[in-house]
Amino acid sequence: MTTPKLVVFAGSARKGSWNRKLAQVASSMARDAGAAVTPLDLADYPMPIMDEDAEAADGLPGNALKLKDLFKAHDGYIIACPEYNSSITPLLKNTIDWLSRPREGEAVLACFRGKVCGLLAASPGALGGLRGLVHVRAILGNIGVHLVPEQFALSAAHEAFGPDGSLADPKRAAMARAVVASVVRAASRLRED
Ligand SMILES: Cc1cc2nc3c(=O)[nH]c(=O)nc-3n(C[C@H](O)[C@H](O)[C@H](O)COP(=O)(O)O)c2cc1C
Repeated sequence: MTTPKLVVFAGSARKGSWNRKLAQVASSMARDAGAAVTPLDLADYPMPIMDEDAEAADGLPGNALKLKDLFKAHDGYIIACPEYNSSITPLLKNTIDWLSRPREGEAVLACFRGKVCGLLAASPGALGGLRGLVHVRAILGNIGVHLVPEQFALSAAHEAFGPDGSLADPKRAAMARAVVASVVRAASRLRED
């Protein structure tokens, strides 16, 4: 198997974020499945809200350029996305919006087209953020990302992690691992093409 390169991150910058914890679990699972993993914390890349006037005046923020380079250098990503009012978080949408903007000489949607992605979610609620993933999937699919069909939403996230940060319930860990394994397989095949 060709070693696929994956960025793994959460759509939350909150201290104590459950989705960041789930992303850490996914990173470890992806390494076990044979991927080269770059963990990313969006808290390290603050950006203003996407605004076309600001873009015309100042260009892309430095952190957007850094993230564009990072994403382009990888085959895919795994995202753990919180659900806000049944949808995507503003942080994740803002990040996608900035990264979708072209730089001179760059292919259209270079961070997204042809990349592979798997979706996870975590919420203290009963649905685990499942409804938000519908929107995240639609947005990424519309900009050329190949989303694996498997996904996993972790309900009651505040009770789900053991003291070592792993998922306490083996059945739920297996569901998360199935998403990760699917991304690693698909990204690996993509590298071989
Ligand atoms: C504006 C807002 C809207 C929210 N809407 C939902 C929701 O629709 N469904 C849900 O399960 N949780 C919702 N929550 C609760 C989040 O799931 C919870 O805050 C979660 O911990 C956020 O993810 P994080 O821990 O990774 O930061 C909402 C939280 C905020 C701040």
